[in-house]
Amino acid sequence: MEKNIAMTDNERSIGVFDSGIGGLTVFRELMKQMPDESLVYFGDTARVPYGSKSKETVTKYSRQIIRFLKTQNVKAIVIACNTASAMALDDIEKDIDIPIIGVVKPGARAAAAATKNGKIGVIGTEATILSGVYDVYLKDINPDIKIIGKACPLFVPLVEEGLLEDPVTREIAGRYLAGLMDSGIDTLIMGCTHYPLIKDTLAEILGKKVILVNPAFETARECREMLDRQGLLNKKKIELGASQYKFFVSDEADKFKTIANMILPLGILGAKKIAIENY
Ligand code: DGL
Repeated sequence: MEKNIAMTDNERSIGVFDSGIGGLTVFRELMKQMPDESLVYFGDTARVPYGSKSKETVTKYSRQIIRFLKTQNVKAIVIACNTASAMALDDIEKDIDIPIIGVVKPGARAAAAATKNGKIGVIGTEATILSGVYDVYLKDINPDIKIIGKACPLFVPLVEEGLLEDPVTREIAGRYLAGLMDSGIDTLIMGCTHYPLIKDTLAEILGKKVILVNPAFETARECREMLDRQGLLNKKKIELGASQYKFFVSDEADKFKTIANMILPLGILGAKKIAIENY
């Protein structure tokens, strides 16, 4: 007789998406903090970067990806992209019927809790910084906080080239961060998925007095709390196997596998290509 292997609501996966590979830094934190959860990742490798696109386009792309992830029977969505969280989350939240979380609000909450002098720096893509969304959330928490934003568009290509601890990255970071340091910040939000990968370089330049906030870590923590509150955490022990983590992309980039294997604590065999524009 066939065994009944129907999944309970809690055993379903969490859907995670990003404009490309950067969201794997969030995926890594979700794996660490929720080892019994199954995760499905979608990286929009054909349409990256989102950081230079309009709100309308990023929202349309995000909605398509969520429709795709729902075909994977996910129980919740994590927008593992700062740009999509900044530009699309507020609209999507209005009509989605499963729990959803982005990376911006958790990052803002952690920074507001960490600052002592009330001066917080935010670095991110042009779209994230121009959206002013970190400013809005931080001011909501504490109107006295002073926010200094700085777009750092060269960091994403530098990371994707694997130049994590390289003199070129150090030189560019020095230029980007100079103004922020002059303004006396004591906390800096790494407001882009790729930046935690150059955390050591940033920390070296900023010195010990500036606290670096990684929204990926905070998002995984808040995601766990959100699922717990809604009774959706998987209580069953998962048998580690290939099926616990699934990866999809919109373009077959060899780079995805290479960089994924650099970021994640396990080797992935590859990612399946999806025609995302059909969703
Ligand atoms: N994932 C994006 C972010 O966190 C960076 C890459 C892009 O511009 O799409 O903002």
